[in-house]
Amino acid sequence: MDQPVDTSGITLPSGFDSLDKYASELDNAYQQYGYLARMHIVDFFVSDHWSSLPQEWQEYFDADDFEIASLINMASTGTLKATCPDFLRTYVNKFDLHSKSSQTEEEKQQILKYFLEGMSPKKQAEVTELSQLINDVAKASSCQRITDVGAGQGYLTRVLAYASGNSGAELLALDHDWKQARGAEKYQERILKRLKGPRARADGYQWDDTLAKRIVHDHGALEAVAKGGIPGSNYMVCGLHACGDLSSAVLKTFAESDLAAVVLVPCCYNHITENSMCTARFEHCAQPGFPLSTKFPNVVFGTNALKAACQAAPRWEHDFEGTMEAFKRNYFRAMLHYLMVSIGGLSTDDKFPVIGSITNTLMENARQRIVGRLDDNAVDATDDNIEFAVYVEAALENINYTWRPTIAQCIDCCSQIRHGLKRMAAVWALRSMIGALIESILVVDRAAYLGENCGAGGSVRAFALFDPVTSPRNVVFVAQRKK
Ligand SMILES: C[S@@+](CC[C@H](N)C(=O)[O-])C[C@H]1O[C@@H](n2cnc3c(N)ncnc32)[C@H](O)[C@@H]1O
Repeated sequence: MDQPVDTSGITLPSGFDSLDKYASELDNAYQQYGYLARMHIVDFFVSDHWSSLPQEWQEYFDADDFEIASLINMASTGTLKATCPDFLRTYVNKFDLHSKSSQTEEEKQQILKYFLEGMSPKKQAEVTELSQLINDVAKASSCQRITDVGAGQGYLTRVLAYASGNSGAELLALDHDWKQARGAEKYQERILKRLKGPRARADGYQWDDTLAKRIVHDHGALEAVAKGGIPGSNYMVCGLHACGDLSSAVLKTFAESDLAAVVLVPCCYNHITENSMCTARFEHCAQPGFPLSTKFPNVVFGTNALKAACQAAPRWEHDFEGTMEAFKRNYFRAMLHYLMVSIGGLSTDDKFPVIGSITNTLMENARQRIVGRLDDNAVDATDDNIEFAVYVEAALENINYTWRPTIAQCIDCCSQIRHGLKRMAAVWALRSMIGALIESILVVDRAAYLGENCGAGGSVRAFALFDPVTSPRNVVFVAQRKK
C-alpha cells in the first residue's frame, strides 16, 4: 500500500484533529455567514444591508450601552465582554482569528546587513525568517536549484543565496516583468560591488569570484520552472507574496511536475480567479485559482468576499484612532451614496463613483465654505452632522461632481439614518472576521490540494510564519516529495 502523505504539519485550530472536519466546519460557517462578506459596503444604506442581520444581532448593536470601541478588541484579538450575548460568542469562536506567529532567533550574521539594506523593516523580518525555512527545506530535499517565483527586486533571492546557512543551491530569480528582473539584477550588482570593498573585508567577508554566479535572473514565465530539469537532480520552487492566482499556479506547478519541494507565502486574495467565475462567464479560464482541492466544491466567494479576506483586523487595536477613523469614513461614504440616490438623481444601478483620498487642504477649504454658509437657524446642526456636510462637500469636489446637497439635506440625512455609524462599524467588524474565515478556507483548500498531489510518503505543512500584526498575510505552505 502507498505510504500516506504526512499532513500533521498543517496547523489546525484547537478542537480540530482532522483537516476534513475543519474543512467541513469552515464550509458550514461560510454558508451561514458568507452574506456578510459578499455585501458591497458602500451600498449599506441604499440596499438596507442592516436588515439582513438577525433581529437579535440588530437589537444588540443598536442598544444604547453598545460601544463601537468594543468592536475593535473583538475583531482584533477576539476579546469579548463578559456580558456579550451567546450569538456573538459563537460567531467569534468560529473563526481562527489568531494565527500565531513563530519567532525564530534574530539573525546575527554581520553579512546579512548588506542584503537587508533597502528593505522595509517588515520585508526584512519576512525575508530573514522565510529564507531560513527555505534553506532548511532545500537541504533536507537535497536541492541543487531553487527558483524564486515572482522575485520582484530579488530581496528574498539574495538572502537565500548569500546568507550563511544557505544550501549552496543555484538560485533562479524569476519575474515575468522584465523591469523587475532587470531591477533585481542591478540591485545585486550594487551589493556585490560593496561586498568586494573594504567595509565588507573589515566585517570579515571573504570575496570569492564564484559568488557572482550564484543567482540567475530571468523574466520568463512560471511554466519554465517545471521544464528543463536535469535528470537525477532536485529542484524546488519558492515565493514570497505571490499575488492571487500566481500562488495557485505555483502550487499547481509543484503538483503537476516532479519538483522536490515548494515553500510559498501567498497574498492578494482579491486577485484569485474562481472556477465559478470562469464557468459563469463562459470564459476559458486556463488557471482558476480556487478551489484547487476537492474540499470546497460548493463555495463561491465573489469579489467583495475575496476583498474581505485581505483585511488585517489584528492591526486594529494597534491603531485605535485610525480604525475609528476608517469606520467613520465608510459610514460617510455609504451615507453620501444614500444621499445621491435619494435626492441627487443617481440610480441604484449606477456605480457609486470612486471618491479616492481627500487631502487635508481640500477638507479644510470645504470646512470653511460649509461653516461660512451655516445659517443661524440651522438648529439641528451638531459637530457630527456638520462633519458629514464637510465630507460631502470635499468628496464631491474631489471627483469634480457638480451636484451638491444643501447643508440642511446633509443634516436631515444624518437624522434619518438612525444608529448609522454604530451599524456600519458593527457590520464592518463582523465582515473583517468573516475575512479570517475566507482566508482559512483558502489556506485549507491549498494545503489539502498539496496533500492530494504530493505523492506517497510526502509531507505538507501550513502554518503562520510571520507576526500577523506586521505581516497580515503570514501563512506559509511547505510541501516535500519523498526523496
Ligand atoms: C507582490 S510582488 C512580490 C515580489 C517579491 N517576491 C517580494 O516579496 O518582494 C509579486 C511579483 O510577482 C510577479 N509575477 C506575477 N505573475 C507572475 C508570473 N506568472 N510569473 C512570474 N512572475 C510573476 C510580479 O511581476 C511581481 O514582481
